[in-house]
Amino acid sequence: FNSSILTCLEEYEQSAHSKVKESAWNYYSEGSCLGQTKKENIEAFKKYYILPRAFRACKESEVDLSVNILGSKMALPIGVAPTGRHALAHPQGEEATVKGCTRAGVCMIQSVFSNKSMEEVTESCKGQGLRWMQLQPLLSESCVVEDIIKRAESLGYSGIVITCDQPNFPISYAAMKESKIKNYAIKNPEVFGNFSKEINDKIFSPESNPYSEVKEKMFEPISWDWVDWVRSITTLPIIIKGILNPHDAEEALKHDIQAIYVSNHGGRVLDSVPPTLYALPEIIKAVNGKVEVYVDGGIRHGTDVLKALALGARAVFVGKPIIWGLACNGEDGVFDVLQMLGDELRAVMASTGCKRASEVTPDIIRLASNYYS
Ligand code: FNR
Repeated sequence: FNSSILTCLEEYEQSAHSKVKESAWNYYSEGSCLGQTKKENIEAFKKYYILPRAFRACKESEVDLSVNILGSKMALPIGVAPTGRHALAHPQGEEATVKGCTRAGVCMIQSVFSNKSMEEVTESCKGQGLRWMQLQPLLSESCVVEDIIKRAESLGYSGIVITCDQPNFPISYAAMKESKIKNYAIKNPEVFGNFSKEINDKIFSPESNPYSEVKEKMFEPISWDWVDWVRSITTLPIIIKGILNPHDAEEALKHDIQAIYVSNHGGRVLDSVPPTLYALPEIIKAVNGKVEVYVDGGIRHGTDVLKALALGARAVFVGKPIIWGLACNGEDGVFDVLQMLGDELRAVMASTGCKRASEVTPDIIRLASNYYS
């Protein structure tokens, strides 16, 4: 595989498609229902134009892409969103992902549905990489979550990301079809590395059909009480992921959390919710600088990152592109995808004369609709 011929993330996507099994591809790429939100996440970026000023550009070498998130430095304002089951894309799974992230100097948020355990991930990056652990209520069993938090603390993870936008099993036509056609049984020895055998067995009982059985067993609706409970058992910073509604941003601020992460789960859970780029400004306003705000969803180019920063995000995160890099070329693919985004961002920041992320201000972008009125 010669990744040097790939020049943008869309080419990584095409190449990755040819490398993973169809069922894995469906899992990685599907949006809920008809995928309106998944599509609009990407389209929203095209609704903003960049409006540079004359004679303000600088040299690329003058651009410093690094940012601090919750006191830790990232080499790029681009982190890696939690996505499940990396072993379907590459045999080394999250062990390869974390190496790519560590080399690129960015934060990897490990999904609670990762195939590799936190111990394996930590060992793989020799404890060097910036890692946050993602959580959601699981199987109604608080001991599972407590165990994960304690292990995360002792392994040097520096944040707990609580996902609030996946209260139940999403409507996924591809998964439904697959389970109908194949009367699907999970035969391969796929495991969720952070759970005991007992919990894995509960989720994946031998005859379990992932649509009917897992559906009932995997998710639990979440409440703010649950966030308070997590707060009471850890001193790690808590990041609430999946906020779209400004009222929820205001509510979050009452719960001793350290950051808000605007997301719609890549359009995978509830279709017809707004694209994250459109939701971001209202959240920024509601938060009013009290905590850091991040965003993910549809970020594929340096210009997209610039637009999200201009609207007030401290950093962005990317989900699917990392899986494409992983599927194409393991650790190197993950690294390359992050470099590609960083290189594009450096070029557009130089063109617009922004020497650091904090200089990317709202006045360098315009809503396209302003030109039509
Ligand atoms: C996800 N996402 C996700 N989010 C989360 O909080 N916990 C999880 O386990 C997962 N799992 C997951 C699996 C896969 C295959 C995908 C594609 C996504 C959502 C993810 O963190 C992120 O919000 C979106 O992927 C961002 O959109 P883009 O960058 O994929 O467009």
